[in-house]
Amino acid sequence: MAARLIDGTAHARAVRQEVAERVARLAEGGTRPGLATILIGDDPASRVYVASKVRACEQAGMVSRSFTLADDVSREELYGLIDGLNADPDVHGILVQLPLPRHLDYKAVLNRLRPSKDVDGFHPLNAGRAFVADPRAIVPATPGGIMELIRREEIPTRGRHVVIVGRSLIVSKPLASLLMAPGPDASVTLVHRHTPDISIFTRLADILVVAVGKPGLITREMVKPGAVVFDVGVTRRDAPGSEKGYEVVGDVDFEEVAEVAAAITPVPGGVGPMTIAMLLHNTVTAAERALRGERQPR
Ligand code: GUN
Repeated sequence: MAARLIDGTAHARAVRQEVAERVARLAEGGTRPGLATILIGDDPASRVYVASKVRACEQAGMVSRSFTLADDVSREELYGLIDGLNADPDVHGILVQLPLPRHLDYKAVLNRLRPSKDVDGFHPLNAGRAFVADPRAIVPATPGGIMELIRREEIPTRGRHVVIVGRSLIVSKPLASLLMAPGPDASVTLVHRHTPDISIFTRLADILVVAVGKPGLITREMVKPGAVVFDVGVTRRDAPGSEKGYEVVGDVDFEEVAEVAAAITPVPGGVGPMTIAMLLHNTVTAAERALRGERQPR
């Protein structure tokens, strides 16, 4: 392997330590940041994600309140819960785990959140603020985590060509906004499932970000020698004979691509730990802003 390994676990530890220090300062003033999580249905992956968010929250000294609702919960019941949490001064952040069951319109649900408590940064007000590079935006945790890795690893972005594979609300679109904003100043290309041949673009990337959820999508020939590769994919697949019986893999053929890339994030242990750390960062920021009494929409 020629590439430098970007150790997301180590960087996330540093972010979490900074968050814990901010939590301790708030506690001296009598405020404990609180995160409410809402999980609907019993999707095993979502359950694991939410459990690790709750654990990390408590480890950082924050209060967590977890709500698990039935798969067929009515819109009225869900909205009643959200409205109550929006009004609760002890709750600084609210997270509705996605994806939602089909009968619920995720856009309407996200729109119901009070923007100042939307620690996922998915409410249209936060998404719009991120789009116009307004510092008041709450930035979604995964793209925020990638930006933090770029900063901490001192990876140059100005004028560099970043190719993002995927077009999700959760990762790719906000990441494109953040990277092309004044400051990072990157040139960004975004490709997705309807792009006829993504390799034409991926081969031109100085920084390649892949957020699709298809193991083995990115092979050696698709990566420019010396590129920096962020693998956001998380797929759990059976691995008979392994200790756990399953393995977690990204979208990039790690062994092959690590031969040509300058630096690469592993899966697990790359972008994933940063996502959780940045959620904690967003929650403590929301609590600090609430305490300062910053005027917030709604
Ligand atoms: N589902 C997959 N990633 C996320 C995330 O970052 N936040 C929420 N709320 N749901 C998700």
